[in-house]
Amino acid sequence: MKGNFVGFFVLFFILFLGGTDATRKSSSKTCRLKKDVPTVPAAGQQSLAPSTACVNGAACAAAPAPSSGVTPGRGAVVQRPRFPYGEQKIRGVNLGGWFVLEPWVNPSMFNQTGKDFIVDEWTYGYYQTRDVAQSIIEHHWDTWITEDDFEAIAQAGLNHVRIPMPYWSVPTANTSTMPFLSGSWSRLLRAVSWASKYDLSVIIDIHGAPGSQNGYDNSGLRLDSPQWQTAPENVNRTLQVFSVLLNEFGNFDKWGGTVGAIEALNEPAAFLPDVLPVTNQYWHDTYGILRDLRIGKGTESADGTVDPNEIKMVIMDGFIGVQNYKGFLAPPQAEGVMMDTHCYQIFNPDQLMLSQPDHITQACAIGANTATDAVGGLWTFVGEWSASPTDCTPWINGRFIGSDWVTAVEGRTCDGLTGAWQTFSDDFKDFLAQYFEAQVMAYEQTQGWIYWFTETVDEWSYSKGIEGGWIPANISDMSLRRFPDICS
Ligand SMILES: *[C@@H]1O[C@H](CO)[C@@H](O)[C@H](O)[C@H]1NC(C)=O
Ligand SMILES: *[C@@H]1O[C@H](CO)[C@@H](O)[C@H](O)[C@H]1NC(C)=O
Ligand SMILES: *[C@@H]1O[C@H](CO)[C@@H](O)[C@H](O)[C@H]1NC(C)=O
Ligand SMILES: *[C@@H]1O[C@H](CO)[C@@H](O)[C@H](O)[C@H]1NC(C)=O
Repeated sequence: MKGNFVGFFVLFFILFLGGTDATRKSSSKTCRLKKDVPTVPAAGQQSLAPSTACVNGAACAAAPAPSSGVTPGRGAVVQRPRFPYGEQKIRGVNLGGWFVLEPWVNPSMFNQTGKDFIVDEWTYGYYQTRDVAQSIIEHHWDTWITEDDFEAIAQAGLNHVRIPMPYWSVPTANTSTMPFLSGSWSRLLRAVSWASKYDLSVIIDIHGAPGSQNGYDNSGLRLDSPQWQTAPENVNRTLQVFSVLLNEFGNFDKWGGTVGAIEALNEPAAFLPDVLPVTNQYWHDTYGILRDLRIGKGTESADGTVDPNEIKMVIMDGFIGVQNYKGFLAPPQAEGVMMDTHCYQIFNPDQLMLSQPDHITQACAIGANTATDAVGGLWTFVGEWSASPTDCTPWINGRFIGSDWVTAVEGRTCDGLTGAWQTFSDDFKDFLAQYFEAQVMAYEQTQGWIYWFTETVDEWSYSKGIEGGWIPANISDMSLRRFPDICS
């Protein structure tokens, strides 16, 4: 919405063999902590197969054509170098809810359907008249984030946007997209040209993989347990998606260095024993694709030296903690791989019990731990986080699913903690300011951070944070930071 831009092996296998329980517990001091796979199945979804015409890729070739009339506007692309990761801090916002719908980020899109069993983008496509849904979603792609937002993001002193992309809108040899509505590819190209115009770097992340890599609605498909890892075709196609993104945006002549990195997969549920090995093989395979590209272009020499201007890739800790990936695809075995970890303090019952000062203390500790754990490993950054201390935002746990903040303590309400910032008390705004800056300070001990935002609730909005006074108008201007010593 306008103006609302924004939210190895050895060590590893020991941990893996040690069992996921231990792994999950050990990560509580770090950044894991998104909700476990939802236990409430989507209405009707479990018993439904995709419409029969589209079970096989070949039969589904009639994917909607990307809409014409959207000009990528490559004329505007400035051929400046790629972002100097490792030298400069990443400061960015996630352009969430744009190319992958999420009920809590896009509640009005879901309300508009009039159907309560539409809970993710899969059901959004499945249960609606196709051309009606297609025209609504095309309008959404053209209006949710606009060029003005890119300008405002740059004005706020940020240098990055992270763009969640689903597999079904990336053109691959396998053209099956049903029941998903595809066609946002042309908007992605346009987005990258806008980023270039405003001197912003882009990380494109594969947010939804076939079968769902985590079962969360944010993958496009809400399930009891993820299915991505169960079929080689799913993984295969995700590799193809990665390859297409890498080849397109690694092309310096076409795009300059605007896209700094491609994130190979968002939030795989690596805490599940069947997901972990498939995911780790996938990271290796995506790295193979990156290497082949570099070797083909001559940007990686025989001795393994890589042109620093070459595009990078990002892997994720999959909620098991960056400490479990020390040395994994790290130099000198691998070059140009970064690590993303997500830091929320609201998806775990213990964290919902933290006092406000404890949230700040924990944020500071997480920054220090993450930076330490990542030493000798990968360039690590915090690719998602927020200043909200609650899960009060409607549907953040899934459409029609309530807030654990409320149920955790009898009598506790969300009043004054979500919604329009004008309803926030001065105390709450002051806390948001401190918590925001504590996290910025903490995560800048790593390679940097990318904030997550959402539409309807101001506590998750970057621009409303500036308007309401808890986010500095220019985050790169140190003189505007109000609590520079908050973590010391
Ligand atoms: C095409 O991809 C879909 C997932 O989107 C998968 O179910 C299907 O098996 C794939 N088809 C082929 C021929 O690989
Ligand atoms: C969507 O519907 C819910 C429940 O009916 C309502 O509480 C909410 O305000 C609506 N949100 C929007 C953005 O229309
Ligand atoms: C933000 O602050 C930095 C550091 O002072 C400065 O270089 C940059 O120009 C500022 N950005 C804007 C848009 O004012
Ligand atoms: C994976 O994709 C390639 C095409 O890129 C195809 O040749 C191969 O058969 C696929 N394998 C599986 C298991 O789907």
